Amino acid sequence: MKAQPADLDHDRIAIIGAGHVGATAAYALMLRALFREIILIDKDRALAEAEAADIADANALTRPTHVRAGDYADAASAGIAVITAGGVTHGAQTRLSVATESAAIVSECVDSLMNLGFRGLIVVSANPVDLMTLVALRRSSLPPRQVLGTGTLLDTSRLKQTLSETLKVSPGSIEGFVLGEHGDSEVTAFSTIRIGGQTLDRFCLETGDLDRPAIARQVRLAGYDIVKGKGYTSYGVATAIVRICEAVVRDERAVLPVSTQLTGQYGLTDLCLSLPCIVGAGGVERVLMPDLDPHEAVALVASGTVLKTAFASLSG
Ligand code: LAC
Repeated sequence: MKAQPADLDHDRIAIIGAGHVGATAAYALMLRALFREIILIDKDRALAEAEAADIADANALTRPTHVRAGDYADAASAGIAVITAGGVTHGAQTRLSVATESAAIVSECVDSLMNLGFRGLIVVSANPVDLMTLVALRRSSLPPRQVLGTGTLLDTSRLKQTLSETLKVSPGSIEGFVLGEHGDSEVTAFSTIRIGGQTLDRFCLETGDLDRPAIARQVRLAGYDIVKGKGYTSYGVATAIVRICEAVVRDERAVLPVSTQLTGQYGLTDLCLSLPCIVGAGGVERVLMPDLDPHEAVALVASGTVLKTAFASLSG
């Protein structure tokens, strides 16, 4: 039997999964002082306690935040629950290859939250993140705006960083998006790039053309390359989590490419993938449809098809 809806405490965030991503997100959230209280939840309670204690050691040196290990009863009233717990990829394993394992873990996390009356926002970073966002959405029955995934916010950050090095422009001054799956079928939408209001074509008239396929490839493979070197990725995705939480807590209505349920955009429905979204206090306030080049639109639909097929085999 479901509990009564819990009271919402917007000053509290719960992070489910105290592995590399969860612990790094907790640390980065503490440094930003976005919440009064951060609850770390993990099946390995000793790990959650150790990570929380390690982060809390920084309190006197920063702005104090209560960071502690907890359980789902503590998470029920949180304004945001972040799900980082999921399957882990090794070497060249694709994110989609851990879908079954992740779906079982994410479903259990969502059930545990919902059974205690959770009614905040769920931010999913567990991979494959687009499928896990859909799993969390379906399982929770929360309004679609309240369930979002880190999606291609990370890939978009990687794209801006790569372009920044090549074009010698601050990454923060580059607008543009990687869209679709956070994974092998993602679409680097070069047509959406603007630097000082100029398209990439126009900007490159002065600086010389770029090897766009090579840039897209570098961005797409960045996660694999990091896994090859250190066994996992953590800082990039954890910062994507923080950026989403910040947009929510401050009701920024910031445009961020996050994974959200589509309702007919580019002809796609019944799946989650990343499009630029207006993110504010309610979660995804609006999904935007950039004017893509025809070949990008085709690639985006293909990315949606990859995700639909993968979700069907997951459910079947
Ligand atoms: C990455 C993982 C989070 O790309 O998918 O870093």
